[in-house]
Amino acid sequence: MEFSIKQGSPEKLKSGCVVVGVFDGGKLSKAAQALDKAAQHALSDVIARGDINGKGATTLLLHNITGVAAERILLVGLGKASELNNKTSVDILRATFKALQDTPAKDAALFITDDAIGKDANWAIQQAVFAAAESAYRSDCLKSKPAKPATLKQITFATLEKPTAAAKTALEQSAAIANGMSLAKDLGNLPGNICTPTYLSAQALALAKAHKNIKTTVLEEKDMQKLGMGSFLSVTRGSAQPAKLIAIEYKGGDKKQKPIALVGKGITFDTGGISLKPGAEMDEMKYDMCGAASVLGTMQAIAEMGLKLNVVGVIPSCENMPSSTATKPGDIVTSMSGQTIEILNTDAEGRLILCDALTYTAKFDPDTVIDIATLTGACVIALGHVAHGLFANEDKLAKELLAAGEQAHDRAWQLPLWDDYQPLLDSNFADMQNIGGRAGGTITAACFLARFTKEYRWAHLDIAGTAWLSGKQKGSTGRPVPLLTQYLINRAAAK
Ligand code: BES
Ligand code: MN
Ligand code: ZN
Repeated sequence: MEFSIKQGSPEKLKSGCVVVGVFDGGKLSKAAQALDKAAQHALSDVIARGDINGKGATTLLLHNITGVAAERILLVGLGKASELNNKTSVDILRATFKALQDTPAKDAALFITDDAIGKDANWAIQQAVFAAAESAYRSDCLKSKPAKPATLKQITFATLEKPTAAAKTALEQSAAIANGMSLAKDLGNLPGNICTPTYLSAQALALAKAHKNIKTTVLEEKDMQKLGMGSFLSVTRGSAQPAKLIAIEYKGGDKKQKPIALVGKGITFDTGGISLKPGAEMDEMKYDMCGAASVLGTMQAIAEMGLKLNVVGVIPSCENMPSSTATKPGDIVTSMSGQTIEILNTDAEGRLILCDALTYTAKFDPDTVIDIATLTGACVIALGHVAHGLFANEDKLAKELLAAGEQAHDRAWQLPLWDDYQPLLDSNFADMQNIGGRAGGTITAACFLARFTKEYRWAHLDIAGTAWLSGKQKGSTGRPVPLLTQYLINRAAAK
């Protein structure tokens, strides 16, 4: 999908469909008033007849209106102006694109920035781009007869006033974020037999091929052996697929500037290993690499927008399988940090690959490290499918990430990383055990990682509840690419 922004009058813009808002009670937005005037009250007439009353997220399509250059008019209910908040605005934008996708229009001109949708005009543009991309997204590339791609190809954000430079930047950045989300979704939705660690490493190498300022390196199991990554390697022991440790370096900033590191869990399938998971819905464990997918999506987004910042993505990737060579409950391994771990449950494998990846990441001398992982089922119980779980060893970083999540409407919620929880990880036989029991399972998982991240500023995002949807709408969400990219945009702006 292509996006542009330009000033224009609603009645004169030639397009497949012009989109304008109607407030609760039938009050026309500014752009709708202009259309109504040119169309000799065609809009106020249908409103008077009761076909649309402006209730939030309702739509009405009008055809062949005399005096209007566009082939169609889509009226969109905005609800009460006083009730336009971030959530209702996103609902309205989703309904708008759903209605547009039901028409054969190839292009559309949207007048939405003058109606105070969401926080401000640039926010409205960003969320509209996300809603547009979402409405066009397909996950049927493996069907023998994939559905036709969406016909809606071009979106113009039309404004009554001259668009600002900030609006143009918001548009470009949002389009790059949407593309990054799409990549993350594609990778998440691919099945485990296709999206293997080798496949993820090929994707990372392809990013380097596409962008001059990206360098990708892939470590093999023998390299990890040399580095002493006994914890990571213990997870891959039962799998026939080779594990990979992928590093993607993006150099958009000053040579001397320390990079921000994103570390993504890349378990391409999580059976639980010898601590085998129950069968129901186990297929969804193909999504256990969504942390890795969000790193790839974010790296692509920042490269596409040419962000002036140094960022490195690190992805430990393998399968977690049962076999006669698999790690057994009670096995003790030595991590790259030298700390020993008693593996009491082989299904708590994310932390085992992440701890070595986090130790390895120190070699990039990072300014900040953020790991992203579908780490605990307990996080789904705590926060449902709305907020990511957030932990940080510095409060300023937590606040910045929470703010970035609000800004991109990809929100996180902070949980405590207090030392009070640490004794739950004590082991009689090793420096620690890899599980802390059922109580506070998301927190003890974060506390485990905290033992490996003392050397730098660090945050952890548990995306177990937010990376994909189940049931009828099963599919990857592309989150938290918006939060991560927004955070990086803010960091680049602060330089
Ligand atoms: N990948 C899972 C976490 C998960 C489960 C995410 C369900 C989304 C939905 C992770 O590797 C795991 O199995 N965690 C265990 C940890 C437990 C054994 C301490 C869990 O959450 O049950
Ligand atoms: Mn697991
Ligand atoms: Zn897992």
